[in-house]
Amino acid sequence: MDTVLVAGGAGYIGSHTLVELISAGLKVIVIDNLCNGSKVALDQVRLITGQEVRFYHGEVQDRALLNRALMENSVSAVIHFAGLKAVGESSQRPIEYYQNNVTGSLVLLDAMHEAGVKRLVFSSSATVYGSDSPVPYVESLETGNTSNPYGTTKWVVEQVLKDAVYADPELSVALLRYFNPVGAHPSGLIGEDPHGIPNNLLPYIAQVAVGKRAELSVFGDDYPTADGTCERDYLHVVDLAKGHVRALEWLAQNRGAAAFNLGTGNATSVLQIIRAFEEASGVTIPYRIAPRRAGDLPAFWADASKAERMLGWKAELGLAEMMADTWRWQSRNPNGYRSVEQGQGHLAIA
Ligand code: NAD
Ligand code: UD1
Repeated sequence: MDTVLVAGGAGYIGSHTLVELISAGLKVIVIDNLCNGSKVALDQVRLITGQEVRFYHGEVQDRALLNRALMENSVSAVIHFAGLKAVGESSQRPIEYYQNNVTGSLVLLDAMHEAGVKRLVFSSSATVYGSDSPVPYVESLETGNTSNPYGTTKWVVEQVLKDAVYADPELSVALLRYFNPVGAHPSGLIGEDPHGIPNNLLPYIAQVAVGKRAELSVFGDDYPTADGTCERDYLHVVDLAKGHVRALEWLAQNRGAAAFNLGTGNATSVLQIIRAFEEASGVTIPYRIAPRRAGDLPAFWADASKAERMLGWKAELGLAEMMADTWRWQSRNPNGYRSVEQGQGHLAIA
């Protein structure tokens, strides 16, 4: 059976991807330093799938640990989620972001090279299209002109991987450019568990809904969009996770590096998200209009036709499922994995 090394597998997208990989019959091992992930997420994955996940606790920059993980398991592919992702924080702590996201990727790539592992899926982001690209974003557009160190780390690693593929014709790399992942596994057992005050829209709304935050600030209502608030391409994390299984299948059949947008192709405004969440949860979300957030773009969404054409992947779940699943996870686990640990989570209720 093929074994996939999942770096950053104890995080939000990684844990959902583990479920889909296991469901597809793959064996998985995880490396994670738990800087933003939780060991409990791996226990929950075991509950959902009935499979134990072998866990290596540590750094992707720890070459000895990587070598051990690659040697002890016959790894045929790597999925690399292990990055820092807070845009604002990346402007405050750029060195840490380059160290973690760029150096981490280099160490991982070098260890793969030495171990003869030739397939890699990299978590990239729509942010690589920068601030001037026309919408919808299509993979053939120029990338770069990123507006913060986080975005630049993603762009730099994409360039490194393209160079690595040029130098090693046996290597195959999928650069998955995620749009805005939201939602949670329908079991309510795993979901997004941000540390501290959430930066992203859905986790913030979900915390307002359970009473952890008083109200949502809507960052700007004077954008050139239908209702004046920003529009994004939100996609369900389970659809996104399935995209990784499709990408691994593509890697097994192809050589070279290719970028794929993973989004729905639809744009939804902040106010539409609030209404959809209220409908799914039955909870009113108090909000006020606040000033624009620096660096936000008015509207962007994916042209996701390449992924459909070449990977056979298409997002299937709509806004209603994204909101209902976010609400199920948050309402059953108001303090995320801490609720699960303290027995106040889903397991206690079930
Ligand atoms: P996450 O923080 O929940 O998951 C990342 C995981 O990697 C965490 O468990 C963290 O502990 C681990 N990690 C980070 N640095 C590490 C290191 N040096 N060594 C070992 N483990 C490390 O984030 P996520 O939302 O699941 O995102 C996964 C990837 O997708 C990230 O690379 C992120 O930049 C990218 N991405 C996320 C989004 C999004 O909206 N969530 C959008 C575009 C791209
Ligand atoms: C952000 C990052 C992006 C990253 C993505 C996924 C910025 C500028 N961009 O995208 O690089 O790839 O997360 O991690 O941070 N909003 C509110 N109130 C809130 C939070 C958000 O109104 O409290 C609005 C924002 O203005 C935006 C929308 O909701 O219009 C979505 O925001 P968010 O979830 O942070 O994602 P992005 O900004 O699209």
